[in-house]
Amino acid sequence: MKNQIIEQTKIYVRNELGEDATGHDWFHVDRVRLNALHICKKEKAGDPFIIEMAALLHDISDEKLNESSEKGEEKLKLFLRTLPLTDNDQKHIKQIIATISFKGGQHTNLTTIEAKIVQDADRLDAIGAIGIARAFAYGGKKGQPIYDPSIKVRNEMSIEEYRKGKSTSIHHFYEKLLKLKDLLNTETALKMAESRQLMMETFLEQFYQEWDGQE
Ligand code: ADP
Ligand code: NI
Repeated sequence: MKNQIIEQTKIYVRNELGEDATGHDWFHVDRVRLNALHICKKEKAGDPFIIEMAALLHDISDEKLNESSEKGEEKLKLFLRTLPLTDNDQKHIKQIIATISFKGGQHTNLTTIEAKIVQDADRLDAIGAIGIARAFAYGGKKGQPIYDPSIKVRNEMSIEEYRKGKSTSIHHFYEKLLKLKDLLNTETALKMAESRQLMMETFLEQFYQEWDGQE
């Protein structure tokens, strides 16, 4: 039964996100799913079914992919209702998805280990080589510059500023990506983050070297 629910959910998500080019494509979701299950196994914690479902559906209600966050939540709710899930499971999955997003650094307290694991898996996919690729894909899609040394790095910011303010993809590393490692919840994810962090640091160093050009 659970296998069937997972398969049905995969088909739904693949259809919904297949064409997205902002870094929220099916492959992102699948990596988050696999990394979340890996963390669950290593930590010997959490309900793997809830984790897999929440990972699969975590971007479905995203406000950037919907007219509004309310519309997004409605879509998720309607889909969950079509599945043979208990009320409790539906509630838990929706709660995980509602609480894990970064949104400019606002901290929300995660209450369940399942939420912590899915958040870690989503964050791991925003850093490292994949994270670098996603940042520039997102930046290109939004029409923001690769880099502009005259723009200041923003520290604290509201959700509105985070989404709409003027920035560059390189700035995004300082505003979000480099901070994620210290925000991880599990030891397993922290270990996985180490080589990814190093990759971003090396990338930035080389980027500035090349940016300054050769005389
Ligand atoms: P979250 O849901 O955690 O707020 P997003 O959905 O905003 O994350 O981000 C999706 C992907 O796009 C991530 O890899 C993220 O790092 C990247 N991204 C988000 N905002 C920007 C930005 N302003 N510039 C470059 N990349 C971005
Ligand atoms: Ni995601």
